[in-house]
Parts: sequence; structure tokens; C-alpha cells
Amino acid sequence: MKTPVFVQLHHDSAEHIREELIHGLTANPQPGGATVSPKFLYDALGSRLFEAITELPEYYPTRTEAAIFKAHVQAMVRSAPQGATLIDLGAGNCGKAASLFGLLAPSRYVAVDISVDFLRATLAALQRQYPAIDMVGIGLDFSQTLDLPPEAGEPDAGPRVLFYPGSSIGNFTPRQALDFLRQVREACGPVAGSGLLIGVDLVKDATELEAAYDDALGVTAAFNRNLISNVNRLVGTDLRLADWAHHALFNRNESRIEMHLVAQRDLTVQWPGGQRAFSQGERIHTENSYKWTVSGFSQLLREAGFAEPLVWTDAPTRDAGRFAVMWAGA
Ligand code: AVJ
Repeated sequence: MKTPVFVQLHHDSAEHIREELIHGLTANPQPGGATVSPKFLYDALGSRLFEAITELPEYYPTRTEAAIFKAHVQAMVRSAPQGATLIDLGAGNCGKAASLFGLLAPSRYVAVDISVDFLRATLAALQRQYPAIDMVGIGLDFSQTLDLPPEAGEPDAGPRVLFYPGSSIGNFTPRQALDFLRQVREACGPVAGSGLLIGVDLVKDATELEAAYDDALGVTAAFNRNLISNVNRLVGTDLRLADWAHHALFNRNESRIEMHLVAQRDLTVQWPGGQRAFSQGERIHTENSYKWTVSGFSQLLREAGFAEPLVWTDAPTRDAGRFAVMWAGA
């Protein structure tokens, strides 16, 4: 009877988090302005609000990706090696990876997330359902460096399938995405047949994009504004929810959705040891979500050392798709 193995590699001290947040909050108004990393959107409430976002009629990525998997999973699994180590980056509730177990038949499942505590209960339940698969949970902030520990298995022990669904790659700038994909290519190891299965959100109409990030019900606004409560808790700032409004826009030059919090009046934010004034209309930039073209992302994959990818989208002509799933051989 197998039991899951767990390792926690990432430890961020409260002091380090506070310094990072204050650094972003006090950044000069020009040129970039104040910023807070999107990782601070995901406290307990924020994670539940994101789950709710995925159910909104305007938020097409989650259900479009699911439909692409449903329609093309056979072809995807035919491209990927059987009996591989499946490495799930940002595993969360492990649902998307688990839906591949039946067809992909991995010998080992490595779930990676920022905190191993998110993975314990899920992996224990999955292990009971799939007693033959070795299960490993790793707590690691792979957005910094993707350094897999020995518990993930030896890179030359067999083929590897790296799995990065959900269009989370969109939170990286193109430069960061290239660096990250190079590390993913490295993590694929030396065994032939290994590769990356990734979900990518595509460039489209600004109206459709902006609606997806500013829904009529106001859930995305709540998700963005909830960051205020999280920052207050982590830094001891006195930000007030009523003073900050949600703003989402498609920046076509940068090919990204931007989320901001916009000050509704002139105000001063205070915290133990510092303060910062904001004038009405001044913003805190909280997230970038980059949108790619199929050809742009294929080129990025090649620059990172992958082969020309196989591409599945939700449209008959792949450039008309809203979302793409790609298999890139290492
Ligand atoms: C989790 C980064 C893929 O960019 O669409 C959803 C986060 N932000 N609505 C995205 C998000 C606002 C989401 N990702």
C-alpha cells in the first residue's frame, strides 16, 4: 500500500513578505507606480473568489480549456508518453491532472504548489483512488526557480510530462515566461518523449477580454479589492476597502490585461514604520495577465528549447480560438 510523500521547500518569513509589499507600495509614482504581486490575491477568501470567477459567464478561460481537453484528450495523450512522471505545476486541487490519470497512466504524480498543506488531503484521497501511482506533494514557489527535489524522481529515470494548465503562464512577462519555460525544458530531463502540456489564453477582442476581468456581478472586483484586506493583515496598513475601486483594461501594446486598484480620493496609507500618499485616481497595479497568439507562443516555446508544439484550440481554425492547449516535446 503506497502513501504519498510530502516535502516543503519554500519558506517565506513574515518579515520578508512585509518588506516585499512595502517596497511595492512605496514605488515611485513614475514610471510604474505602486505594485502588489498577484500572489497576494490568494488568501483563503481570495482563493474562493477565484473559484467563483471560474463559474462566471464572462470568464471564458476555465470552461474553454476544459472543453478543449474534453474534445482532444485522446490526441493529447497519444502525443505524451505513457507511464511517465506527471509533474503538475500549481496543482491546487489536482483536479485537472487527475482527469488525465486514466488515459495517461502515469507511474508517478508530482503535485507542486506554493504550500504543501494545500496538497495533503487531496493527494491522500487520490492515492486511495489510484493505489498504483507513486504520489508526491511538493511545496515550492516555482515562479522563482523550478528546482525539483529528489523526491520528484531522478530526471533520467523515465519520461516526464510537465503540466501547466489554466493560463497561469499569463502572469509572467514575456521575458519571465521565456526564463521559466527554459527551466521547464530543463526539468523535462534527458529521456526521449518528455514534454510540456500547457494552457495558454489567446489575444482577442478587448471588449470580451475586459468583460472577463470586470464581470457584471462584481466577483472579479471583489477578488481584486480583497487584496486590500490581505495586505492590511500582512503589513498592518490602514487601507480602507471603500477608498479603492477595481479597474481592468486590455493594454494592447503589451498584449495584457491589467488589474488595478484606483484611489477614490486623496488619501495617505500608514503602516508601522512608514506611509505613502495617493492622490485621487492614482493606482496600485495588482496583476498582469498576458494574452498570446498561437504563433507567438509557439515561437516562445522554440526559443526555450522545445520542439514545434502540437496545438488544440476551441475553433476550427486555430487562430480564431479563444484559448489554446499545446504539447511541446522537449
Ligand atoms: C489564474 C492567472 C490564470 O489571469 O485569468 C482571473 C487570474 N485574475 N481573474 C487569469 C485572474 C482575474 C487568472 N490566472
